[in-house]
Amino acid sequence: MTSRILRDARRYEEVHGSLVKEEERPAFHLSPYVGWTNDPNGFSFYDGHYHLFYQYYPFSPLGGPKYWGHAVSSDLLHWEYLPAALAPDTAYDQDGCFSGSALSLPDGRHLLMYTGVRAERGSGGEVLLRQVQCLAAGDGEEYEKYEGNPVITGDILPEGFSRIDFRDPKIWRGSDGVYRCVIGNRGPDDSGQILLFVSEDGFHWDYKKVLTANHNRLGKMWECPDFFVLDGHGVLLTSPEEMLPEGLEYHNGNGTICLIGDYEEKTDTFTEKHHQSVDYGIDFYAMQTTLTPDGRRVMIGWMQNWNTCHIREGNRPWFGQMSLPRELFIKEGRLYQRPIRELEELRHGKVEYENVDVGQKTVLKSVSGRMVDMELTLRPGNTDDIYKKFAVYVAADHRYRTEVCFRPGENEIKIDRKFSGSRKTVVHQRRAAVDGADGRLKLRIILDRFSMEIFVNDGEKVLSLTMYTDQSADGIEFCSEGSVKMDVVKYDL
Ligand code: FRU
Repeated sequence: MTSRILRDARRYEEVHGSLVKEEERPAFHLSPYVGWTNDPNGFSFYDGHYHLFYQYYPFSPLGGPKYWGHAVSSDLLHWEYLPAALAPDTAYDQDGCFSGSALSLPDGRHLLMYTGVRAERGSGGEVLLRQVQCLAAGDGEEYEKYEGNPVITGDILPEGFSRIDFRDPKIWRGSDGVYRCVIGNRGPDDSGQILLFVSEDGFHWDYKKVLTANHNRLGKMWECPDFFVLDGHGVLLTSPEEMLPEGLEYHNGNGTICLIGDYEEKTDTFTEKHHQSVDYGIDFYAMQTTLTPDGRRVMIGWMQNWNTCHIREGNRPWFGQMSLPRELFIKEGRLYQRPIRELEELRHGKVEYENVDVGQKTVLKSVSGRMVDMELTLRPGNTDDIYKKFAVYVAADHRYRTEVCFRPGENEIKIDRKFSGSRKTVVHQRRAAVDGADGRLKLRIILDRFSMEIFVNDGEKVLSLTMYTDQSADGIEFCSEGSVKMDVVKYDL
């Protein structure tokens, strides 16, 4: 039965969502039908389509109590909006249906697992968001909350584990047929830990263990965990709050991490061997993965950062967008990402240049646009005297530009959106280490109206950011200090 609260949201989105013009949205990145979005949720392949749900508040682009928005796609790039799937309409989730995940049940139903939130008063009168785990099952459009909800509460947690920071279940079925889920939690040392729960049927859950813990190393609370086996390695993705930077590896505030190690399913033992950021840009958080029918592990994130949400000007009909879906793989023990191969189907209008001598300001005919897939291959013009700096400006006009800058001598790539329309005192730059001392570097830059994602050296590092400038700022310019030779392959998308 559809509740009044869900019906009202659906009515609102029907009226107001259809008013948003296509050209006011990203073309192939999912944005909310109307209003606010943050995390991607329930990313899954079900009944012949990819389903992507999203943290949603249809009534305002500034956010509010969370619903689940819903869209489906057959190629992960063209999305069809479906009516909102979940609303905060029950006693255990009346203050929000927080993030969660999905899978297909053997009986053909689609199972959603999410965090229900209810505000309570603490002993000092403060508001505490009590978090419990809930289920809803459905047919890909209509979902019924499970009568046994909540299925996991803080009551089964060991002493000292938080009942307040206990959220974002990611559910999967192991090769042994056992249902498992990982949930972010705050442990007795006040920092994040990832808890593992097991179930025979997906509905009745037991607490198993702490799969891995932060111990105050990498930020504080760990949100939105995901766990899977990739190329023979156990991989845990999570989004820490309150990070401190470590060299160029992490940055202050909300960040993303990937722990890579060994995983033994029989005992559910994960032994961490390496950690790194997932995305080195400004706007990327709360990522989640799914397995495609042809066996690719594809990740999608919220292309935004809680601390910089307010750089978008004015009261627009929507706020927040998802990243490009990215195929993940492990190479030499590190996480690599490449844009999903389906993107190549959108390419048209190929323009190619070889051996361009990059000057102080180089503009190339037909190399411009805000929906672009562009590959740049750089090498030094003179190997005895490697250039100092190479930069490309995108989304540029007389006033605006978004900059990517590479300095081989410092083995560093930098993005800068100071001139990308922000009127706020917030961070506009991010740097990442790249191995390019010989002046050779490959960049693949994807633009989609309000965003830029850069894949460095075939996916070794990725940097994402959003920019909300006028679409008329569509210039692309190159410049160098020293001699740079550049090949360009550019497509419109
Ligand atoms: C991450 C997060 C999740 C939570 C959701 C609420 O961005 O804080 O931990 O479930 O957003 O919208």
